[in-house]
Amino acid sequence: MFNKDIVTAFEQKETPFFYYDLALLQATLDRALTEANKYGFHIHYALKANFNERVLRVIQESGIGADCVSGNEVLKAVEVGFAPEKIVFAGVGKADKEILAALDHNIFAFNVESVQELHVIGDLAKRAGKVAKIALRINPNVDAQTHKYITTGLDENKFGIKTWELSDCLDTIKSFDSLELIGLHFHVGSQVVDLNVFKSLCVKVNEFNNWFDERGYRLKVLNVGGGLGVNYTDPDGEPIVDFKRYFEIFDQFLERKGHQEVHFELGRALVSQCGSLISRVLYVKNGIKKNFIILDAGMTELMRPALYQAYHKIERLSSEQHNEGGVGMLTHYDVVGPICESTDCFGKEVELPESKRGDLIAIRTAGAYGEVMASRYNLRNEIRYVYNDEIA
Ligand code: LLP
Repeated sequence: MFNKDIVTAFEQKETPFFYYDLALLQATLDRALTEANKYGFHIHYALKANFNERVLRVIQESGIGADCVSGNEVLKAVEVGFAPEKIVFAGVGKADKEILAALDHNIFAFNVESVQELHVIGDLAKRAGKVAKIALRINPNVDAQTHKYITTGLDENKFGIKTWELSDCLDTIKSFDSLELIGLHFHVGSQVVDLNVFKSLCVKVNEFNNWFDERGYRLKVLNVGGGLGVNYTDPDGEPIVDFKRYFEIFDQFLERKGHQEVHFELGRALVSQCGSLISRVLYVKNGIKKNFIILDAGMTELMRPALYQAYHKIERLSSEQHNEGGVGMLTHYDVVGPICESTDCFGKEVELPESKRGDLIAIRTAGAYGEVMASRYNLRNEIRYVYNDEIA
């Protein structure tokens, strides 16, 4: 993935930093749009996955909409140039100020998560003299077959409206002239790699869609959320996910009523493979039971391994290796960061060429939920980044 010129350029840079390949991002967006356009599907990008300025600009320019989960994300999306009529606002705890900001910008839809939230949005919209467009986020009780921390569509999760609350929702919406129900919203989890999960989701969406239809509601929007998983083990083998198969499933299994639009909220699938965390080996500690590589990047830059035991491919980069045409002897290392926490570990028993202080290490597939989840814990430095066109 990283040719010799890129590695040589990395060698001149201060580490750690996120490297973003905006050309790969563009190619990913092109592929996603080509496949979605076949069926007239609408894509919103989930800003929560990565709101790096340049990444956002490339995505905005592609014409995709935005999926936001905070007032600040709504404001950021507007600032970057996403059309308000393509912005959706989800989130289980929207504060009044955030709702007002979104109303102010006349966004496409609020994905509403409770009866109480309907009352709050209804009241605030009424006072502002606006009509808020609403999609009800229904919790469909579909198991996303992913890590329990990123599962959202089960009864036990805090997200969405439970089925027995739907009549209440409709009564509330009817009681407010300031609320307009435009659709339904679902999101069952993230890093979903078993595509059968999406078939199950479609079956549930069809049931709910019929339920509303039978009651005389002509809903314009079916928003099926995001969640499409990526290949963390082989980022070079599958730099772009199989959008063709993904959208085909929805075309095949989702029963749209003639007038209905289908919307998606993709985060990870669009941005994960274009980002890598580049770091240097600070120390190598050879122990009796274990050998450690201690990096200058830690859980403060990429939290996913510490938080979800997530796997990220770890590679040693070396321009010498390109010259010599080999990698040398392989050794097993626990690759850890410098933070004072035992969970600050990127990988255990990782097979790498014998490494030394100063070697560059790439932690791959870090474009989604990497930089955005960084923290200043241990008073670490602000994140740095490098883009492909700066070193080409
Ligand atoms: N829509 C809603 C309502 C969501 O909650 C999410 C993600 C998405 C869309 C985008 O999902 P994606 O296509 O990226 O899977 N920090 C975790 C992931 C948390 C996902 C939260 N919701 C991780 O690093 O794996």
